[in-house]
Amino acid sequence: MNQVGFVGWRGMVGSVLMQRMREENDFAAIEPVFFTTSQAGQPGPDVGKPVTPLKDAFDIDTLKTMDAIVTCQGGDYTKAVYSKLRDAGWQGYWIDAASSLRMDDDAIIVLDPVNRNVIDQGLANGVKTFVGGNCTVSLLLMAVGGLFEKDLVEWITPHTYQAASGAGARNMRELISQMGTVRDSVADLLDDPASAILEIDQKVAQTIRSDEFPTEQFGAPLGGSLLPWIDTKLDSGQSREEWKAQVEANKILGTEAAPTPIDGLCVRVGAMRCHSQALTMKLKKDISVGEIESILAAHNDWVKVIPNDKEITMQELTPAKVTGTLSIPVGRIRKLTMGPEYVSAFTVGDQLLWGAAEPLRRMLTILNE
Ligand code: HSE
Repeated sequence: MNQVGFVGWRGMVGSVLMQRMREENDFAAIEPVFFTTSQAGQPGPDVGKPVTPLKDAFDIDTLKTMDAIVTCQGGDYTKAVYSKLRDAGWQGYWIDAASSLRMDDDAIIVLDPVNRNVIDQGLANGVKTFVGGNCTVSLLLMAVGGLFEKDLVEWITPHTYQAASGAGARNMRELISQMGTVRDSVADLLDDPASAILEIDQKVAQTIRSDEFPTEQFGAPLGGSLLPWIDTKLDSGQSREEWKAQVEANKILGTEAAPTPIDGLCVRVGAMRCHSQALTMKLKKDISVGEIESILAAHNDWVKVIPNDKEITMQELTPAKVTGTLSIPVGRIRKLTMGPEYVSAFTVGDQLLWGAAEPLRRMLTILNE
């Protein structure tokens, strides 16, 4: 593969993708061409080799000359351009971070440490459209892929603790503003060790509930609170984020014909870019915690089993530890009192890396193998 077009490379996911590609020296193997929706003709980014000025991301004739296009521009762009490009006869590879094409029969959801077999089969069958999965789904499967590989999962209930970054860059800023506003509202009292905690608490509550509290992005306070709803409501009563778990996970695994039930509540919390998930799993048989840990640990190079002990859990199994890394720790693994097949786990992952940019980056390298 030669010419690879990049669209939406300046946004949050796109910037993480560029950073990872530079780190892995991926640009050496391709001829990158950078597109823009607003600044055609401006110089391209520094990727360690000369690049042409930015091209118009809506120019179908130029897009058509690419062997592959990687887009992190978002669903509206995909909807505006993808069909036109295919209708114009373009046969190149489309690699997309947006969700719009994910459930299309012609598209494969990419997460190669979990579904390399599905990807290879798709490539052999001439599939040309590859889409990154929803972040919680990808992070879940990176964590417990071993149990699926061994066909041990009867069902999973993932309850999520999702970071602000999943809602966008502006939301990350708003979370920080909210946290700062809370602190500022009681700064004097905090400095005085003799002040009453209930007075501090009351002021904090007043601040969080006040009309001046910055909530333009989230629509409600997140700092000092949480939001038990992500995305739109479906007729099933699920949020769209909750609906994605089962349909996308089974599509990734290639088990759509006999899907494993995966359903739980999705909650936004005040973390920056790591999504966490508390899992209740029913396994198909009673196997020991030690066996479960070995199966999980052997599945891929990034999953890391954390022993179910307090000290190491507090150090290793948190967004503060994982943020900005490719590590996928999974811990709190124990049998639940419901019975020997019922197992808990807790996992954390960076939603911009394995949750978004990394599967796309790796798909591009698979095409270059
Ligand atoms: N929908 C996810 C979230 C992020 O809101 O956290 C993108 O997959």
